Amino acid sequence: MAEVVIVDSADAAGDLVAAHIAAKVAERADYTLGVATGSTPLPVYQALARQREAGVDFSRLTAFALDEYVGLDEAHPESYHSVIDREVTVPLGLDPARVHVPDGTEATVATAGDRYEAALEAHGGVDLQLLGIGSDGHVGFNEQGSSLASLTRIKTLTQRTREDNARFFDSLDQVPTHCVTQGIGTILRAGHLVLLAFGEGKADAVAKAVEGPVSASMPASCIQLHRHVTVVVDEAAASRLERSDYYRWVYDNKPAWQGL
Ligand code: F6R
Repeated sequence: MAEVVIVDSADAAGDLVAAHIAAKVAERADYTLGVATGSTPLPVYQALARQREAGVDFSRLTAFALDEYVGLDEAHPESYHSVIDREVTVPLGLDPARVHVPDGTEATVATAGDRYEAALEAHGGVDLQLLGIGSDGHVGFNEQGSSLASLTRIKTLTQRTREDNARFFDSLDQVPTHCVTQGIGTILRAGHLVLLAFGEGKADAVAKAVEGPVSASMPASCIQLHRHVTVVVDEAAASRLERSDYYRWVYDNKPAWQGL
């Protein structure tokens, strides 16, 4: 069962997850973090930046991003290369050479998935993977119907995902139609999955991912196949969970030594 932690706010979630990551980095400086883009992980990155100000050294941390748009120049402000650089690499003081993002360049995209899988394997994988969740239950850009065994590859975004992400662009037309995304099989290889979700708009997807059947039709339900998952949600995103009383009981009675 995924551990479900219900917090008061996105900032509280950020503090909780960042404190855990900082503790892991203190134990082992060459920790590897899987980073997501979008709005959801931002409180974690902001809290990690505060950890850095307080003296935590992230310079030996390696990061692997989940996905990238196809056809956006890396320098485009909404390419995930740029977003990760702006939200993660610079504020956390990461070594840019240790930050990996899939190649979404049209000319070379055909081999991008295999190259990313090889880079992940050569590195030895991801210790902790941060995940957001789409309102339709996608993780990474694994849209509904994605194979639960899928590896990094090109995907076509649904119109709903493009509309959800249009807020980052001047118009819907500018949102790419394709992406390169880690597959569900890739994501499931990480040592620990931390899925975050905030707001009522995510409540249905969270409930289905945590408590519904495991199905390619609900890609985030893949978390039920992983042995170490933490789902951190605010009250609104938790509002459709049937067993929320039990999750609160478990967390309130959790031995301190267990950590996240
Ligand atoms: C982005 C990603 C996506 C987002 C999801 C939610 O790297 O992997 O799965 O996590 O689309 O986006 P936000 O957080 O903006 O609601």
